[in-house]
Amino acid sequence: MGNDHRHLLAIADLGREDIIRLLDSARSFAEVSARPVKKVPALRGHTIVNLFLEPSTRTRMSFELAAKRLSADVMNFSTSTSSLSKGESLKDTGKTIVAMGVDAVVIRHKSAGAPRALTGWVDCSVVNAGDGMHEHPTQALLDLFTMRERLGGLEGLKVAIVGDIDHSRVARSNILALGKVGAEVLLVAPRSLLPEKVEEMGARVTGSMDEALAWCDVLYLLRIQMERVAESRFPSLREYTLEYGLTQTRWSRLERKPLVMHPGPMNRGVEIASVVADEVESVITGQVSAGVAVRMAVLFELLGGGHGG
Ligand code: CP
Repeated sequence: MGNDHRHLLAIADLGREDIIRLLDSARSFAEVSARPVKKVPALRGHTIVNLFLEPSTRTRMSFELAAKRLSADVMNFSTSTSSLSKGESLKDTGKTIVAMGVDAVVIRHKSAGAPRALTGWVDCSVVNAGDGMHEHPTQALLDLFTMRERLGGLEGLKVAIVGDIDHSRVARSNILALGKVGAEVLLVAPRSLLPEKVEEMGARVTGSMDEALAWCDVLYLLRIQMERVAESRFPSLREYTLEYGLTQTRWSRLERKPLVMHPGPMNRGVEIASVVADEVESVITGQVSAGVAVRMAVLFELLGGGHGG
């Protein structure tokens, strides 16, 4: 997609028109998911491998469901059950998979750039399902889909992204995607959770959660990525919650409530109070449903329609 019509590796590779086309296509596929028989024959005869080498619930399951709803054959693959655990390289694993006649590999990997490297070793489509701290393009697409469906448009939308921006591939992809479709982005975090060259990301920055809440149409909360934070970046989780959490007090004070979104997994009681999470649950589960439709649109474009096939 974008300049390379075989792969989806990063939002950075896409233009505005690519994003809008995928969101429009996802809307048609959302209608398929609402039917009693949730299946179309669009990718019958195609084989897709889910190569998830980092934990995932939402992305792995929704890519599998998306492929099945398009009638593709799906194989799931993880580190612990494969020869990767015996030391086989990603290059040799990729070549082995593709030798079986696979049409697309969906890959999640702890290293930034692994999906792009894989494109050099395999002769099939590659989709990035999250690579290290780099990008998570389908997450950003499903988030934009959700914002557009709920609020009617994206141009001029005010989106505050709160939390661990530095470690977040979700934030990176969303900042890029929102910029491309004309939305405004405000990043809300302590300095220690912002990337070094944050000003180059094209978003405004604040340390004030209350300023963000007064300004935004969409409040996008991120979790603190304990598994990636090697050293402590803030005094304590409790202090983080007081400064940057969507606490019950903050939420109840708001006269104009923004659309609250979260990519999951959520840490209740840290970035969001549990009662607030319950109140906004339908939007967050709506993001998950949108994930199936958006991933159907991506797989269909790469393998079945438009530029792919
Ligand atoms: N949002 C997201 O990527 O969730 P998973 O890690 O569960 O796939």
